[in-house]
Amino acid sequence: MKIIFATQNPNKIKEIQNMLPANINIVGLQDIHVNEDIPETAPTLNGNAQLKANFIWKKFQLPCFADDTGLEVEALNGEPGVRSARYAGEVKNDDANIQLLLNKLQNKPNRFAHFRTCFCFIHKNETHFFEGKIEGEIAIEKLGQNGFGYDPIFVPKGYKKTFAQMTLAEKNKISHRAKALEKLLNHLNNLIV
Ligand code: IMP
Repeated sequence: MKIIFATQNPNKIKEIQNMLPANINIVGLQDIHVNEDIPETAPTLNGNAQLKANFIWKKFQLPCFADDTGLEVEALNGEPGVRSARYAGEVKNDDANIQLLLNKLQNKPNRFAHFRTCFCFIHKNETHFFEGKIEGEIAIEKLGQNGFGYDPIFVPKGYKKTFAQMTLAEKNKISHRAKALEKLLNHLNNLIV
């Protein structure tokens, strides 16, 4: 089964392809020569995932899905949330985003946060949503070289290291995206049988 994942992010495609059975073939936007940035203007993660999946569905009428992820920090009333990618400004900059978040959390004792991923899957004009979440805390400083985004400052609950100090395989076992993807995969497996 060929499914379009509406993302330009090769890290995500790699991360997800590693978790999939061989009979499901994921194709990214670059593979189908869609080079434009699909607007993410909705106020919620679900809404943004749906915007992206809809864009591809209308263009290709092939099974497709999109995701949107946010880091939601308790002491900041859920910030950066849907603004995670562009928290520090309109140009995406992971280092600037991390620095801004660490600054805002200075002197705040509550560092609880979670990552939340929403998938929107469209097939045969039916739309389904799947969500995954991982609880954790924001570290005092950046630690680790792996991963991307806020990984160097996110310590998952029950661990003493950041996502960026984990291997991709370790992160994939517990991540927000893995949990959301598991739900999507159950759905896909039911479609295939
Ligand atoms: P997106 O919706 O997946 O594009 O993610 C929005 C923002 O959240 C981006 O700035 C990403 O860097 C960040 N982000 C998404 N997933 C992760 C993750 O697994 N670890 C760290 N940051 C992430």
